[in-house]
Amino acid sequence: MSNKDNLPKENEKEKEKEKENKIEEKEEEVKQVVTTTKVVAGKEGVDYVKIVEEFGMQLITDPMIEKMGKLSKTPLHHWIKRGLFFSHRNLDQLLDKYEKGEPFYLYTGRGPSSESMHLGHLIPFMMTKWLQDAFGCPCVIQLTDDEKFLWNPKLTLEKVHQFMIENAKDIIACGFDPEKTFIFSDMNYIGEMYPNICKIRKILTFNQVRSTFGFTKSSNIGQIAFSAVQAAPAFSSSFPKLFADKKKVNCLIPCAVDQDPYFRLTRDIAPKLKEKKPSLMCSKFIPSLLGLNEKMSSSNPNSAIFLTDTPNQIRNKINKYAFSGGGDTIEEHRKNGANLKVDIPFHYLKIFHPDQERIEQIRKDYGSGQMLTGEVKKELISILQDIVKKHQENRKAITDEVLQKFMTPRQLV
Ligand code: TRP
Repeated sequence: MSNKDNLPKENEKEKEKEKENKIEEKEEEVKQVVTTTKVVAGKEGVDYVKIVEEFGMQLITDPMIEKMGKLSKTPLHHWIKRGLFFSHRNLDQLLDKYEKGEPFYLYTGRGPSSESMHLGHLIPFMMTKWLQDAFGCPCVIQLTDDEKFLWNPKLTLEKVHQFMIENAKDIIACGFDPEKTFIFSDMNYIGEMYPNICKIRKILTFNQVRSTFGFTKSSNIGQIAFSAVQAAPAFSSSFPKLFADKKKVNCLIPCAVDQDPYFRLTRDIAPKLKEKKPSLMCSKFIPSLLGLNEKMSSSNPNSAIFLTDTPNQIRNKINKYAFSGGGDTIEEHRKNGANLKVDIPFHYLKIFHPDQERIEQIRKDYGSGQMLTGEVKKELISILQDIVKKHQENRKAITDEVLQKFMTPRQLV
């Protein structure tokens, strides 16, 4: 084939990529970029085994779960037992080292793309808070105000700053230990990390980030350079004020699985910087209320439970919008039972109901048609109302001084 023949095709490809890039720039879609080109969400939701294979991760195994339970100072979290956190990189080695007395710190983050966070956003933070208690870890939380500014053409720096502050309060409300937790905005903290960021930028090539994130010639250069900013906190040397002795500390990153590409790159470059490769522990996504193949989105209030929702709003959303796998009529439902695979209320109960035995009972009764959708929804409503109410109470107690303390670089215990 001659070069000439190739040209139009290349142009087509370039155009396709441009289109993808446009989609990327929409708010909230950012996180999905990496996965949208690779993950196929079928009728029954995301195929997680396929993600693990494509990303080159490992599934969290039963022996690993057992080991976590043995090493942890508190009872094992149900999100680990139930496999909501399902995949990892080098978590087994990290646990082995911990067992031998080598401590680790936790690193997670959020892009403050709006001031309203929903329950799905909270999952990694609740998990991180549990890990902090269970393993006595220091924790750093990155708020990527720069990222959201760079990706969303409509966001101003003033707006993203305001979102960052509001999000920080919601994160603190998860119960992090003020003596052991540092929350930072990239805008404020970048200086301390800048030496590491520069070292990372020097190693990463445009080719690498382009093939990982699908950048095009029209991507802004802030986006192209951003992965270094998300990688830097995975190295303890980015926090000279936090870690007293300058020895390098192991790092565990709990996050939703769509963030893995950033840390795949981070792990690749770690040896070249003489840094330790961070370990990862990744969660599945919480489905939209509207159905397994829909997306939770801050722009559609009916797609998710927001942390600001009133008990009434929660009730209405679940009753009106939570996609039901129940039969169309009572007769039909009694006869065939509910389709639990697509039923959102049941899916949510599997995540948020604290009692595993009750979940199994509902699986039986609802699956057989003995229990009706309305009854399942009622149980879910009260659980969600409780979680959100507690969160709102915690959040109310967070003063500016508390916020200030969490956001000040200082030696962590
Ligand atoms: N890029 C993430 C987002 O858009 C934010 C983030 C930064 C993050 N550092 C992280 C998420 C570490 C998980 C772990 O939300």
